[in-house]
Amino acid sequence: MTSSASFFSLLLLSSLLFDSHLSLTSAQATPPLLAGLSYEFHSTNCPSLETTIRDYLREILSSDTGVAAGLLRVHFHDCFVQGCDGSVLLAGSASGPGQGEQQAPPNLTLRARAFVIIEELRNRIHRACGAIVSCSDIAALSARDAVFLSGGPDYRVPLGRRDGLSFATVNATLANLPFFGSRVPQLITDFAAKNLDVNDLVALSGGHTIGRGNCGSFVGRLYPTRDPTLETTFADNLTRVCPTNTSSGVTPLDVRTPNNFDNQYYVDLLNRQGLFTSDQDLFTDNTTAPIVTSFANNQTLFFERFAFSMIKMGMINVTTGTQGEIRTNCSARNAASTTYLTTDVDQQGKNAGILRLFDNVVEGLFGYI
Ligand code: HEM
Repeated sequence: MTSSASFFSLLLLSSLLFDSHLSLTSAQATPPLLAGLSYEFHSTNCPSLETTIRDYLREILSSDTGVAAGLLRVHFHDCFVQGCDGSVLLAGSASGPGQGEQQAPPNLTLRARAFVIIEELRNRIHRACGAIVSCSDIAALSARDAVFLSGGPDYRVPLGRRDGLSFATVNATLANLPFFGSRVPQLITDFAAKNLDVNDLVALSGGHTIGRGNCGSFVGRLYPTRDPTLETTFADNLTRVCPTNTSSGVTPLDVRTPNNFDNQYYVDLLNRQGLFTSDQDLFTDNTTAPIVTSFANNQTLFFERFAFSMIKMGMINVTTGTQGEIRTNCSARNAASTTYLTTDVDQQGKNAGILRLFDNVVEGLFGYI
């Protein structure tokens, strides 16, 4: 073999190796897609979808960074209860006042503004493309952009979700959302029920790198006796925010960088400065502690795993194909009467068109005669 031939075969070999390495990483970087969802679902019929969401959220977040946390949490609460079907966006209560999904205690602290923004986005998107994009897809994309615009990873979101026709009861909501006082074995069980494993649990808990918590979610760690796993200065500060067990203050979830999506939440845990029992126990428990340490040491790894787990979470029990509907108002199911009216108006429009055609033909005929 001549030296130039051997040089080229070496080049070929190394490019093959490089390619296979690339495909291996990208294969690992995204979970297998569920039937009915695809990354290109709206690329032809609504090409402006993703830029509309990103541009609008960029504008909103420039004056209210906190709403990013609100949007991320809405998507999580949507997916864990009845799957990612936009059920958490539905207002009202079929079974009596105070009995709907939104009235369940964990949902009472979802930010009202996040719901308003999702509806504003729906309006913009439907005006541009027609009523073809679901509220649940808009919520999934908004969560991704909230993360990205706060400094976190960018990743592609599989689309094609349809909106559910009903919301969950308060009890079903409580049964499906993990509790802030839970310890790791319980959290592993909760996540396993959604086909999420222990890596997903630790990666997704990293969502607590942005946003805030109310006293009610952690006063149990301060009173009647202080949880000894709490670092002293951190606990003293929490006591100032919530001087009694009925105080109503708020405090950041990530004491180091409250508004940046980064890996500092895991550094908090290493320093016993996690806000909820469900956070801090990830570092106390031997099963999850090594994962916490690896994310605290390597933000790139955390970003990669977070994106992977978000895509997985975004596929929980999705409604696709002909199931569900595309809501024309994210907070209400499309009413039967509205469908009737739309059809009626459409029909009148069609009839008017046929009449106009008939008129033209007659006019044309008479024109000839
Ligand atoms: C592991 C189980 C989880 C538990 C027990 C839990 C619990 C909570 C609690 C109690 C709050 C504060 C509520 C309040 O006091 O106002 C909260 C806030 C938040 N959670 Fe979680 N969460 C969990 C997982 C997740 C996941 C998987 C995500 C997203 C990937 C997430 C994203 C958020 C965000 C962004 C906030 C802040 C919301 C805001 O500032 O408006 N959480 N969570």
